[in-house]
Amino acid sequence: MSRTALVTGGNRGLGFEICRQICRRGLQVVLTARRLEDARAAAARLREEGLTVHPWELDVTVPEAAPVLARQLAAEGVHADVLVNNAGIFRDGAILDVDLQLVRESFEVHLFGPLSLIRAFAPGMRERGYGRIVNVCSGYGQISQGLKGSAASYNLSKAALGALTLRLSVELPATVKVNAALPGWLSNRGGPVSMEAGADTVVWLATLPDDGPSGGLFRERRPAEW
Ligand SMILES: NC(=O)c1ccc[n+]([C@@H]2O[C@H](COP(=O)([O-])OP(=O)(O)OC[C@H]3O[C@@H](n4cnc5c(N)ncnc54)[C@H](OP(=O)(O)O)[C@@H]3O)[C@@H](O)[C@H]2O)c1
Repeated sequence: MSRTALVTGGNRGLGFEICRQICRRGLQVVLTARRLEDARAAAARLREEGLTVHPWELDVTVPEAAPVLARQLAAEGVHADVLVNNAGIFRDGAILDVDLQLVRESFEVHLFGPLSLIRAFAPGMRERGYGRIVNVCSGYGQISQGLKGSAASYNLSKAALGALTLRLSVELPATVKVNAALPGWLSNRGGPVSMEAGADTVVWLATLPDDGPSGGLFRERRPAEW
């Protein structure tokens, strides 16, 4: 039976590569993007590679968007077995100076968006006895690394996403695994890690076997400190 994965921010960057790799592994992919036309354009690019993904609109900051999406998909007989919370924003600013609205926005995208998606889709995963949730975190959100960098709202909200991952793993049954991934500094931001390599750990966590880990943070498929 083919599993279905839902990916946020799938229209470009890491999310696009995650969709590509998950699809290549034989899962159905619901590629979501803030704007439907972007989701459709990304799906068309993958179709040129012989891959079929289903484009869908999802702005993770819109209240009620997650349960509405879950109901729309269910009406079409689609249930997410895998959820990848990839959507992200990077806003510069020191903690004492940054506009509080920017901090709130970062938390909407990195914490409340993923949380409402998890609340919309995890109960179904639990009922069906299978689920994989992957939250895309960042080295800038690692408390063990000191939360350094120029973007305080990014640091704080990614650290919170890590905390959400850990907390969820305590509440969810072993059949629903929730982990966080560190993709590394990616080439789309001038970094040394290719998009393919950055997506690898995410896709590995999204397709973990039944005896795989839960409640962990991983870089290059190896455990990392929160
Ligand atoms: N790039 C890196 O070096 C790096 C390093 C560590 C972690 N990460 C994390 O990896 C993830 C992907 O990064 P990336 O470099 O691929 O970022 P990116 O190229 O900037 O793409 C971000 C994606 O998130 C989407 N997005 C933003 N706000 C959204 C919202 N409210 N609702 C739905 N989608 C939204 C964007 O949609 P639009 O196209 O509509 O803007 C876009 O698809 C992020 O969580 C990021 O924090 C990246």
